[in-house]
Amino acid sequence: MRPLFKLIGTLYLAVVLSVQQGDDVDVDSYVQSETPIAKAGVLANIGPDGALSSGAAPGVVIASPSTTNPDYLFTWTRDSSLVFKALIDQYVSGQDTSLLGHIENFITAESIIQQVSNPSGTLTTGGLGEPKFNIDETAFTGPWGRPQRDGPALRATALITFANFLLSQNNESFVTQTLWPIIQNDLNYVQDNWNQTTFDLWEEIDSSSFFTTAVQHRSLREGATLATTLGQTSLASGYTTQAENVLCFLQSFWNPSGSYITANTGGGRTGIDANTVLASIHTFDVNAGCDATTFQPCSDKALANHLVYVDSFRGIYDINADLGPAAGVATGRYPEDIYQVGNPWYLATFANAEQLYAALHTWTTVGSIEVTSISQAFFQQFIPSITPGTYPSSSSTFTSLTSAIRSYADEFIAINAQNTPSGGGLSEQYSKADGTPVSANDLTWSYASALTAFQARGGVFSNSWGAQGLTVPSSCVPPSTSENPTVAVTFQVDATTVFGQNIYLVGSVDALQNWDTNTAMLMSVENYPIWILTVNVPASSSIQYKYIIKDGSGDVTWEADPNNVLDTPANGALATHDTFRN
Ligand SMILES: *[C@@H]1O[C@H](CO)[C@@H](O)[C@H](O)[C@H]1NC(C)=O
Ligand SMILES: *[C@@H]1O[C@H](CO)[C@@H](O)[C@H](O)[C@H]1NC(C)=O
Repeated sequence: MRPLFKLIGTLYLAVVLSVQQGDDVDVDSYVQSETPIAKAGVLANIGPDGALSSGAAPGVVIASPSTTNPDYLFTWTRDSSLVFKALIDQYVSGQDTSLLGHIENFITAESIIQQVSNPSGTLTTGGLGEPKFNIDETAFTGPWGRPQRDGPALRATALITFANFLLSQNNESFVTQTLWPIIQNDLNYVQDNWNQTTFDLWEEIDSSSFFTTAVQHRSLREGATLATTLGQTSLASGYTTQAENVLCFLQSFWNPSGSYITANTGGGRTGIDANTVLASIHTFDVNAGCDATTFQPCSDKALANHLVYVDSFRGIYDINADLGPAAGVATGRYPEDIYQVGNPWYLATFANAEQLYAALHTWTTVGSIEVTSISQAFFQQFIPSITPGTYPSSSSTFTSLTSAIRSYADEFIAINAQNTPSGGGLSEQYSKADGTPVSANDLTWSYASALTAFQARGGVFSNSWGAQGLTVPSSCVPPSTSENPTVAVTFQVDATTVFGQNIYLVGSVDALQNWDTNTAMLMSVENYPIWILTVNVPASSSIQYKYIIKDGSGDVTWEADPNNVLDTPANGALATHDTFRN
């Protein structure tokens, strides 16, 4: 075995060396061959006719066809919205007009999913924060990291992009009658809930998350603009007020001593995380220059963050070991990751490239590169002696930097290319030891991340969303809750059920569905037979409630009398510890 191993080792080194030199021809040909594969890979995972998504309702995006280790045959609001943002951008830019049917199906699917009562609540009680659903548009009721509050923001952004296009085509009726009600649900949710904790995009940490906050900010800004266009001025001003507060909060994720963006306020890790690079590319605005207020890709803070994030993976993956200190390398979610032993992800590695292509685009548009004391270390990777200052596009420094950074960006594509199997299929991860595919196969988000990185490499970007010239308010104000104050109550009940039965909660106030068993809220099982559900209910009130059992055919069994009574405090949170009364 040894000689063969050695031969493979030598071949591997040869490929590595060519990658390290930023071999443009290889990257060009990979982009050319992988583009149609990635596009087909996305479409195969969209119901009802996608080749790998049988059983998915029309417009439903499956995360991956993988059903075991891991089971990803579900639809996540985050993944679906990011995927459809990429498709909608292709449609509205005229690149692919055949996508209209898929987009219309997506709109219908999301309008249905928004209404599905689920373990996070109903449409009006927090259900929009539910991270994932079954692919037939029913609720997923197992335990999960919920809520995840980036989904509604990302969905709003995808749909606003389509709405803006339709308005430019004088198709206002579809926008006001069909799109706006869906978008408004999501924006109201973001407006009302951005200041609550959330699980992060990796579904692990319940705190505040940079990615979530950044995409929430974006959705409120472009939502306010659309609301204004549609004559909804009071909604617009509400969204703008909260956008200001969110932008203020966004600044607090910057870690000045570490020179990076801390991904989550909780979690007990370094906070170095692909979360931040993904946030930068998904909130890129072609008109916002290198503004650090919104962490634009060429801002000093986003570049410093790129350096720290990428460097954190140089020493921990074998496949990066032979690459030079300033070469593009394979990167994963975060350096402490242990999921599937902790490997590089295609979408994270593509994001490194995409951030740099976006930065290059802006430097060319603006006509200069500004190096600050914050971004100096990033630029020293290419010119060790560089000092802070502004380098106009006529200078040789500008030319050297842009050419070196373009090669660097290409190296991230190249290492993904090198670890793409011969058929071009993109799984979620590839082995940090030998580059073979790991985890879910044909991950829709991996394909979408390839498409957007390739577009960025070709200088094709989406429309501006209004990040230009924003300033941070002087003080950060949490949203006012004085009008209808609520408290979060975690209802917990010990209830023994038989197969096919589920426990629901219903009660005397709107938030508890006014005793309506049809819209009663499904509870989730955290530790059977304990059923649990957190609901925001009016503060300082006396509330009555009951648990009900529903069986598979929807028949209801009420808990025995009397009603449970809860007197809520003026603020804070509380939990009940009930036992179901037969
Ligand atoms: C408006 O757009 C919708 C969604 O694509 C489409 O179904 C409808 O035919 C369009 N209406 C007009 C008048 O173009
Ligand atoms: C809510 O907003 C305030 C003010 O910006 C901030 O200090 C706090 O951390 C935020 N909390 C959450 C959970 O977003």
